[in-house]
Amino acid sequence: MNPSPPDVAVVGAGVVGLMVADTLAREGARVTLVDRGRPGRGATWAAGGMLAPLGEAPGPGPFLAFALESLGLWEGWAEQLRQRTGSDVGYVRCGKLRVARDDDAHDLRARARWQREEGHDVAWLEGAGVRTVEAALAPEWGAGLHLPDHARVDPRRLAPALEAAVRASGVDVRTGVEVRSLVRSEDAVTGVELADGKSIEADTVVLAAGAWSGGISGLPRRLPLRPIKGQMLSLALDRPILGGLVAGPGAYLIPREDPDGPLMVVGATMEDAGFDTATDGSSIDGLRSAAEALVPALAGRPERERWAGLRPALPDGLPLIGPDPELDGLVYATGHHRNGILLAPVTARVVAGALSGGPPDSRWAAFGPARFP
Ligand code: GLY
Repeated sequence: MNPSPPDVAVVGAGVVGLMVADTLAREGARVTLVDRGRPGRGATWAAGGMLAPLGEAPGPGPFLAFALESLGLWEGWAEQLRQRTGSDVGYVRCGKLRVARDDDAHDLRARARWQREEGHDVAWLEGAGVRTVEAALAPEWGAGLHLPDHARVDPRRLAPALEAAVRASGVDVRTGVEVRSLVRSEDAVTGVELADGKSIEADTVVLAAGAWSGGISGLPRRLPLRPIKGQMLSLALDRPILGGLVAGPGAYLIPREDPDGPLMVVGATMEDAGFDTATDGSSIDGLRSAAEALVPALAGRPERERWAGLRPALPDGLPLIGPDPELDGLVYATGHHRNGILLAPVTARVVAGALSGGPPDSRWAAFGPARFP
């Protein structure tokens, strides 16, 4: 007789929890996915959907390698979600252009230099050359770093597609269910206890609850996670204005196609303000004027929506991924800060690798839990 498949409880149904649950279920595990709200309606819903490793990484190192590996997995995820669910998740390899004024281009130039020296596909643009990539940019942006491999996805199309995929994979999805604590016997996990007093038995618990991950009791270590609020807005357009992603001082711009017409998503603030998702007029006005300084044609465009989400941030800015060395059966998949959408595919791969009992990939040791003793 075959042994029964392992029972896995994934806590948190954001993009990371959804991809982890889907991957494990397709590998034969019996998976329960639990979320305090609805799948993909937290930080995933709020995210812009930029897939931009070179735009976000502070320098060369494991984070950039990890992010580039994940970028390489994205097209495959978009394609298999299309085949399995019929949904287009809005994946476009549209490139990203980061711009600066001529007299303020020192940091951007240094970034271009190290990225070129590391062998990445980047182009340095000056003067009118910047507008050969994005004609709508204001003339004052005289320096640009173009990252042609970068891409975008629409998180609001992605979330329902992933939810449909995990259900089709046989994952037991429990929504509106809050996990109160980990249940353990001695040095192994046996499941999770829910806020209503019920419990879910599991040999393995994957903690993928974003900014809420540290609030679950019974963890073997304190997770210094903080929610970092990002306020955003979207503007309704008559026609697309940009071909790709654009970032400059004070704002980034993400083109998005909506059923009601093209949009420009403008992000985002970085606020250490607790679990608060309110927006405020002065932050939204600040984002709007930074966006208009980048692309003057955005002036006067009607606002479609404003919102805020909570990035799960650890003090070193790195994610927390991998098994707990002291508690058998607990695996972390959280702390993705500004890069949850980008890093979800590689995170799912690493978690699946950890559960298959293979040796850990030493390249990602910096993301392990031992750094929080
Ligand atoms: N990835 C961009 C942000 O978190 O605002």
